[in-house]
Amino acid sequence: MLSDFALSDEQRFVWETTARFAQERVAPDAARRDHEHRFPFDLVSELAQLGLLGVKVPVDDGGSGADMTSYVLSISEVARACASTAVTMAVSNLVADILSRFASPAQKQRWLVPFLAGKMGPASFALSEPSSGSDAAALRMSAVKDGDAYVLNGSKQWITNGTHASFHLLFARVVDGPGPHPTGSKGITCFIVERGAKGLDAGTEEKKMGLRSSNTAQLHLTDVRVPLANVIGEVGKGYAIALSGLDTGRIGIAAQALGIMEAALAEGVRYAKERKAFGKALSEQQATQFAIADSRCELEQAWLLTLRAAADRDRGAERTAKASSMAKLFATEACGRVVDRMLQIHGGYGYVEDYPIERLYRDARVTRIYEGTSEVQRLVIAREVLTG
Ligand code: CAA
Repeated sequence: MLSDFALSDEQRFVWETTARFAQERVAPDAARRDHEHRFPFDLVSELAQLGLLGVKVPVDDGGSGADMTSYVLSISEVARACASTAVTMAVSNLVADILSRFASPAQKQRWLVPFLAGKMGPASFALSEPSSGSDAAALRMSAVKDGDAYVLNGSKQWITNGTHASFHLLFARVVDGPGPHPTGSKGITCFIVERGAKGLDAGTEEKKMGLRSSNTAQLHLTDVRVPLANVIGEVGKGYAIALSGLDTGRIGIAAQALGIMEAALAEGVRYAKERKAFGKALSEQQATQFAIADSRCELEQAWLLTLRAAADRDRGAERTAKASSMAKLFATEACGRVVDRMLQIHGGYGYVEDYPIERLYRDARVTRIYEGTSEVQRLVIAREVLTG
């Protein structure tokens, strides 16, 4: 499909380099890592060496300086090999993108540059809380100014890379005291909370249905002192920072779904050609052919929407909320349908660990939930259409 597109030399280089790396280094051990719930520390370092933790971050900030289309191509290739590694990479790029756009030069030197050079390990984006996921502006974590620091209290939930992050890009609400607190986006501020900060407990790792070699944890902060120098952007402007980061992040999750779909379709086609029933290969039977045809159509539609959102970004659009949400909504929902059809082609064998489709099916599910559920994407799209 991609060979039909007029990619630039740079895009093709990023795509081919990542594809080679993903197939040689990421794919071979993916099933075992999943089985053992093992986080790929070695691969995070290798991703950094290849410049894949900050694909579109400018070179001056330590990134690769490539474009959004290149980012889509690289995430999709890593996801085709291992969706868990892809989400670790996607969240790293989300954090790097925000720091490159909103951090001061000193903050970039302190966190962004060494992070992208692979000297720090992964980072996290800590927005969701136990009682606020979709309604992100209802977050309760408080930040009270005290001398040269803010004192943070509260909990974060579903934090990708949470246990292993060297630092968390964390959103808390700046308040004057115990309450009543402002509501909505008011006061929400973006902080860097470093690993090992006194009062930070990043220990409770989730046991997930899929993406088992990625790390998801709760964070609990009790009187954590965060220096004023760790505020990213303006105090009170953190919510807009989070949502603008998610504009690009959601394109990355669409790309992750593309990679999972590519892998699932390849597995379904392979199995359909091998397996015989009623005297002929499954691939010669119309029911299978229809499942493959529908899946291929949806995969290509998802590519078009995702590349279109990336192209909007590459043309310089500052906000791509509608295009990003359309790409994420369609690609992740199509991904759910494709893995389901391809598992069905496998029959009972699709339901056991011996075939990769079982892992792909589990890994696909969360793409419709994180970085904004399908319902949130519909809200964003409808709002833009109705007010646009
Ligand atoms: N870019 C920049 N700024 C934006 C923006 C964008 N795309 N969208 C909104 N803003 C700004 C607005 O201009 C507004 O600014 P002011 O306060 O200065 O006026 C502010 O942000 C608030 O905007 P809204 O009133 O439109 O925001 P809302 O509260 O109505 O948004 C929502 C509702 C769309 C449902 C939003 O809360 C949302 O997207 N929720 C989902 C959150 C989410 O995706 N969480 C994912 C967690 S991260 C994750 O999953 C990562 C991982 O680990 C894989």
